[in-house]
Amino acid sequence: MAELYVGIVSGTSLDGLDTALVELGADTCNVVRARTTPFPGPLGDGLAALVADPRTDLRDLGALNVAFAEFAAECVLALLAESGREPDEIAAIGFSGHTIFHQPLPPGAFTLQLGDPSTIAARTHITTVADLRSMDVAFGGQGAPVLPALHAWQLGHAEEIRIAVNIGGIANLTCLNPSRAVTGFDSGPGNALMDAWSRLAGRGPFDRDGAWAKSGTVVSDLLRRLRSDDYFSLPAPKSTGLEHFNLGWVQRALAEVPEAAPANVQATLLELTATTIADAIEASEPEAQRVIVCGGGAYNAALVQRLEALVAPAVVETSAAHGIEPAWVEAAGFAWLARARLVRAAGNMPSVTGAREPAVLGGVYSGETPNA
Ligand SMILES: Nc1ncnc2c1ncn2[C@@H]1O[C@H](COP(=O)(O)OP(=O)(O)O)[C@@H](O)[C@H]1O
Ligand SMILES: [Mg+2]
Repeated sequence: MAELYVGIVSGTSLDGLDTALVELGADTCNVVRARTTPFPGPLGDGLAALVADPRTDLRDLGALNVAFAEFAAECVLALLAESGREPDEIAAIGFSGHTIFHQPLPPGAFTLQLGDPSTIAARTHITTVADLRSMDVAFGGQGAPVLPALHAWQLGHAEEIRIAVNIGGIANLTCLNPSRAVTGFDSGPGNALMDAWSRLAGRGPFDRDGAWAKSGTVVSDLLRRLRSDDYFSLPAPKSTGLEHFNLGWVQRALAEVPEAAPANVQATLLELTATTIADAIEASEPEAQRVIVCGGGAYNAALVQRLEALVAPAVVETSAAHGIEPAWVEAAGFAWLARARLVRAAGNMPSVTGAREPAVLGGVYSGETPNA
């Protein structure tokens, strides 16, 4: 029987907190209602500052940990109110937290997400499943990406070779070849660099439809320098984040080339995202027949068009063609991980993350009233 779950996702783009009410069962995954709520200024700024510079005062960290979770709880309650649902109808919340540091390579491998799950459980009275990456890292895995299991289930096909590409701040792909184990990894930057460049130029938080990028011309010398980063040639499993791909990374390469017009830099950053995704597909699944795009990048028309040209004759379409809006795939994925935790199913895929074994992921913070 299908039950209701809520998925909460705070992605690297910091465009807002996604909450999705999802009906989940053995064969069902149906997003009933979802919303993205922009972060209140101080909260968004606090998270952005911490990601940009991890040195912080522990008191500030603790306060942000709780403030962020309070905001997440409010978003869940608002979603339920809009949906005409009560907390006791929800089996559990799956909470991504906000990644403030991701360093999955030994020595000292760890991944750290902010957001106090107890606060969410206490405010909503809904059992909250959180810290969904650390167990995979503890088993020697990358702790990311965690969506391939959902991609395989929702988007896989018995005969066709498919690639699911999630274009968030960072882009990750899942290779769905019916004759092989599922693989997946982060290809590199998704929207993060385009967003950062747009913000720096005073053009708002993102380049709508990629129109600004489209107005410029690719700077081939800059593109070559950016593409020469070692990350792109590393073998999978691999994962990355804003610790590596950030504005400073772009500016260091920019310093090496003759001054370029801002629109041309944006065109180059779009080309970087498109070509590194296409290269990753070519390297891992050259016979891919269908590329299914999700995440916010699916709404960047110029980016999707460029990807289409690069991967032809493979068909490019968004996850909407498979019954799930691109914006909500990740939140549905975290709802799915909550259910996997409660039924004690594996949440990770060792063939994807490199973990030594399949594992039950996450901690359970009960929202129930204790027995008398
Ligand atoms: N209409 C659009 N045109 C261009 N880019 C868009 C559009 N809608 C969303 N995006 C991009 O998607 C990003 C958000 O994607 P999302 O999947 O939420 O990423 P994350 O998981 O990192 O938060 C925005 O920052 C923006 O770059
Ligand atoms: Mg987002």
